[in-house]
Amino acid sequence: MRILGIETSCDETSAAVVEETGNPAAPWAMRSNVVASQVAIHAEWGGVVPELASRQHLRDICAVVDRALIDAGSTWGDLGAIAVTQGPGLVGSLLVGVSFAKAAAAAANLPLVAVHHLAGHIESLVLQNGELPLPAVVLVVSGGHTSLYLVEHPGSYQLLSRTRDDAAGEAYDKVAKLLGLGYPGGPVLDRLARTGNDRAIALPTTRLTHADRNAPELKGDLDFSFSGLKTAVLRHMRGRAADTALTAGEIADIAASFQRVVVSALIERLFDAARRYGAKSVGVAGGVSANSRLRADLKERGERREIPTFLPSLALSTDNAAMIAAAGLRKLRAGHTASFELNADAALALG
Ligand code: KG4
Ligand code: ZN
Repeated sequence: MRILGIETSCDETSAAVVEETGNPAAPWAMRSNVVASQVAIHAEWGGVVPELASRQHLRDICAVVDRALIDAGSTWGDLGAIAVTQGPGLVGSLLVGVSFAKAAAAAANLPLVAVHHLAGHIESLVLQNGELPLPAVVLVVSGGHTSLYLVEHPGSYQLLSRTRDDAAGEAYDKVAKLLGLGYPGGPVLDRLARTGNDRAIALPTTRLTHADRNAPELKGDLDFSFSGLKTAVLRHMRGRAADTALTAGEIADIAASFQRVVVSALIERLFDAARRYGAKSVGVAGGVSANSRLRADLKERGERREIPTFLPSLALSTDNAAMIAAAGLRKLRAGHTASFELNADAALALG
């Protein structure tokens, strides 16, 4: 069975075809994965402009889906279902994908599957590596989320913790903006950090110990907080004696110091959770999982703790429809389809 996946939750219009392999250990095979990025459009404004994003999705969606079918050597006739991101995300952007998927499912007489965007990121790990040894602890770290999930059974997700304020990717984007490096900030800060001294400036690490009043069901001590970092970088910049612009060396040092603090907070909490819940594997997914230091530190820590670690390929780290298609197949197998009443949900919860 082949499924068409559609993803339009933020600023990439994506469509992909994924097929079941029949192999329980590596259940999904990617036939195509087309991503039309809107980065060039939003870079001009220093961040994603929701109104521009939804209009661009509308312009791109038909051609992106056509290309995904052609690349896969598929026609509408050989698809078994259509999966689409229902949320969370920008509501205008989500609505383009959801409306397209409903119309296509009705026209082609195919079942429709609604997918949670973060379930998609988690499934990118399985698409890339095959089924993870369970229970697994997975960190989903992107521009909108920094959340730890416990996966005890395939397709079940228990939220263990999340950020109290900014997401890690959002912190990258905000610090890059402060440093005048443009949007999106993650890839450029990552590149600059490689040439800097990661101990050059002292930035605070926030370790939360108390429960969150807004989420009493979570213990809270595995939560993240990144908003103080951005303020600390700003304070450092203002506190410089010199009245001149930052030199390239100073920017690299700030990038490296910032990256060290963010990555160690992510890795510490992830492995704390893995120990607490007796995880047999750990994974990191979402846009920030493309980060070079996070990838290297994850591998190194996993080897030291003798616990297998999993990452998506770089192409499957950032938003894409292949992960949505794979998560859609998992839901379809479990018997979950959506009706044509399906609506986008900007704040959809998982777990
Ligand atoms: O998952 P994603 O494509 O979209 C969301 O669902 O948010 O993640 C985008 C985020 C952005 O904040 C971007 O700056 C960050 O991922 N990102 C990175 C890197 N590549 C992308 N952050 C750090 N290092 C990177 N190499
Ligand atoms: Zn994402």
